[in-house]
Amino acid sequence: MKIGILGGTGRMGCGLADSYARRGHEVFLGSRSPDQARAVALGIEGEVRGGSLLETARDSDLLVVAVPFEVAEELIRSLADLLTDKIVVDITNPFGAITPGRIAAVEVHANAVPSAHWVAAYKTTFWKTLGQPADSAGVTRDVLVCSDDRPAGQTVMDLIASTGFRPIDCGSLENARAVDLMVPLMLELDERYQCECASGWKFLAAH
Ligand SMILES: NC(=O)c1ccc[n+]([C@@H]2O[C@H](COP(=O)([O-])OP(=O)(O)OC[C@H]3O[C@@H](n4cnc5c(N)ncnc54)[C@H](OP(=O)(O)O)[C@@H]3O)[C@@H](O)[C@H]2O)c1
Repeated sequence: MKIGILGGTGRMGCGLADSYARRGHEVFLGSRSPDQARAVALGIEGEVRGGSLLETARDSDLLVVAVPFEVAEELIRSLADLLTDKIVVDITNPFGAITPGRIAAVEVHANAVPSAHWVAAYKTTFWKTLGQPADSAGVTRDVLVCSDDRPAGQTVMDLIASTGFRPIDCGSLENARAVDLMVPLMLELDERYQCECASGWKFLAAH
């Protein structure tokens, strides 16, 4: 699969690129500075290229939005035609930029570009853990996934599972409102327990 990352030069973008490239995916890093994206791509093993945000959106089958929430809506609106019918993974955290609990970041973006198949994922996955799908005790880390589009959600869950993480199907995009709220608490706990951005939420099933 050709995976494009809008914001591919950032901490999450690079970590995801490395994780996907290791599993044999073709990865395209998109940046406002294509030269910087090409330089960053050279430092990641596997089939990784860099380019502009427009080239990335145009040449990828699946896209990850890995830019700050504050700039994401304008960016996806500017690329809307290129996102039509593509799976778009929203990893942005709003941190109170929208009314907490009333609407999720992914809902804002799905409303802005309804022609894409939206999936929320990685909201509670610290960038430092992207290269470590299991913690020091060997417990596999969970990645929470929300989507109103079952096939799109399944594709993203399969992708996550292929990288060694455990995808958790959290249901609809509306449920991402709760996931967005878990992020500030995770940051507070991470600091209180001195985890240095290596903590995460774990769902324990009954079996
Ligand atoms: N850090 C985490 O642990 C974590 C965990 C889960 C989710 N997230 C979310 O993931 C997203 C990225 O976080 P990060 O920590 O990777 O941030 P980061 O390291 O600061 O990277 C941000 C990326 O966004 C791009 N960018 C910045 N302003 C832009 C603009 N105006 N237009 C287009 N691109 C722009 C930058 O690319 P160029 O400068 O190359 O264009 C850069 O690659 C955020 O929404 C964050 O809430 C972060």
